[in-house]
Amino acid sequence: MPTLAALVLPLKPRVTAVLLHPVAKPLLGATLMAPAGYLLWGALNDHLGANPAEALIRQSGEMTLRCLLLTLAVTPLREITGWAALARFRRLLGLLTFTWGLLHLLSYGWLDMGLEMSEILRDIIKRPFILVGSLTLLLMVPLAATSFNAAIKALGAARWKRLHQLVYAAGILAIVHFLWMRSGKNVLGAVFVYGAILVVLLAWRLRGRFTSAGAGFR
Ligand code: HEM
Repeated sequence: MPTLAALVLPLKPRVTAVLLHPVAKPLLGATLMAPAGYLLWGALNDHLGANPAEALIRQSGEMTLRCLLLTLAVTPLREITGWAALARFRRLLGLLTFTWGLLHLLSYGWLDMGLEMSEILRDIIKRPFILVGSLTLLLMVPLAATSFNAAIKALGAARWKRLHQLVYAAGILAIVHFLWMRSGKNVLGAVFVYGAILVVLLAWRLRGRFTSAGAGFR
């Protein structure tokens, strides 16, 4: 039976030209940040329902998770299709994940909690899944901070790669955060879908653990 890489081989020159096009990265960035514009417009025009802060937290949380899974999907997709040019989008996707994570944190800490530390602490004690979310974002800080060429040089490729394995831990914690939050409400459909995607991506990673396939935000 032909492999997928063999099946999509005839498309490779055209797909590579699209992926290497100078507009490809800005277009991907604009597409994945477009919901932020929509949310801002909705917040300013009172279009986010009865609880705008909650709508902002939920939408930004889900966008963070989607971007994280897209980041994790780059290497498997590159290996399956043989489209090497896909690798140039991984750093951008990682940074978009981090940006959405910060917007999510801001929606919660600032818009919902009014930056009241005592309120936040009380909420964390009541809803510990928030702590898991915070840990997820914290894990992403060193990844975002070392997603530049100078950091790879400074760390050395092997150490950099090891550090960027943290992206998988972030994926697991993000699903735990989501599952914990949604299990309180007994609405688990989306959690299973995102969780299943993560399991497939992790399985792919474990399967390729002795190959040179990289991970991370770069
Ligand atoms: C970067 C890592 C994070 C990811 C991937 C993430 C993802 C999510 C997702 C998917 C949801 C559910 C959205 C929905 O119901 O559709 C959610 C909810 C929530 N997250 Fe996060 N989150 C992260 C970090 C954080 C942080 C740092 C905080 C706060 C310190 C936080 C606080 C919350 C809260 C309070 C909710 C529930 C909102 C509600 O009650 O409706 N999350 N998050």
